[in-house]
Amino acid sequence: MNDHATVERSPDPGREVFLQAVLGGLSERPRSIPARFLYDSRGSALFDTICAQPEYYLTRTETGILEARAAEIAGLAGPGCALVEFGSGSSTKSRLLIEAMDLAVYVPIDISRLHLDQTAAQLRLDYPELRVQPVAANFMKVEALPADIDDAIRRVGFFPGSTIGNLTPEESDAFLRRARRLVGADGAMLIGIDLRKDPTLLTAAYNDAAGVTARFTLNLLRRANRELGADFDPGAWQHEAFYNARLGRMEIYIRSLRGQTVSVAGRSFAFQPDERIHTEYSYKYDPHEFAESAHRAGFRLAELWTDPAELFAVVWLEAGPAPR
Ligand code: TRP
Repeated sequence: MNDHATVERSPDPGREVFLQAVLGGLSERPRSIPARFLYDSRGSALFDTICAQPEYYLTRTETGILEARAAEIAGLAGPGCALVEFGSGSSTKSRLLIEAMDLAVYVPIDISRLHLDQTAAQLRLDYPELRVQPVAANFMKVEALPADIDDAIRRVGFFPGSTIGNLTPEESDAFLRRARRLVGADGAMLIGIDLRKDPTLLTAAYNDAAGVTARFTLNLLRRANRELGADFDPGAWQHEAFYNARLGRMEIYIRSLRGQTVSVAGRSFAFQPDERIHTEYSYKYDPHEFAESAHRAGFRLAELWTDPAELFAVVWLEAGPAPR
């Protein structure tokens, strides 16, 4: 399917949500467009390409850890559980778990309906015995699982890719608390977190030489042109990503290369040369700090697996007493 389908259907609630986010985000200072809008069908495909870039160590390192630990993870999860993936994308990593675990149901949650449906269809073909129950939603907002998923089934949440690092610390705390309610008192969470490291490696990971990450961030402007009839000139903007060591995070922006005025749905926005639109943070973790934030949300960090170079970690959180 192509993006034009979204343009022509009207009124389209997805378009309206994107429109309000762009108008609101460009009106604020500093300006921003929330990163979840990066993942339209073209953005999701570009993101899959980022994951295959040599500089982007995150995906292959996390996959290596999951491969090495899949049997151990299956043992911790126990038989007949529900695997709930937050922001499933193309579910590549979940396949490792699906194959190792004894699952009653796999519940992928993703904001991109199209990506979700394609992924679910392919999983059903590849694993005819597996029950797949996709939920098209912003994973930050999901409060409950579909009603027909039995309460007696143990719930294991899966949040790979250091996507948790794309949340602000407040959002991340709120997410973990909501996840704790969703998985319940006997649930667990499996989370991928990117670790603090040499800034050179970090900076390279978000500025790949092939320019895929740049295309990925600039797709946000192209998406606004396609879906909202905006008139961003993609050649007049530049992807920018750098490490903020004080706050332990990558910061990702789209920078205006010159003074320019852009119109979005009849409203004009004037940009100074070098003015930036913020799109995303990507927090890098200290394991102790992460364990503390999990604890505040009602989880106990039971296992932390890493790679030999300690670039990335996968953690297993067991639900503990509910936080006050
Ligand atoms: N979760 C990914 C990360 O923080 C998302 C990501 C990778 C990303 N590259 C990006 C987001 C570039 C915005 C721009 O690593």
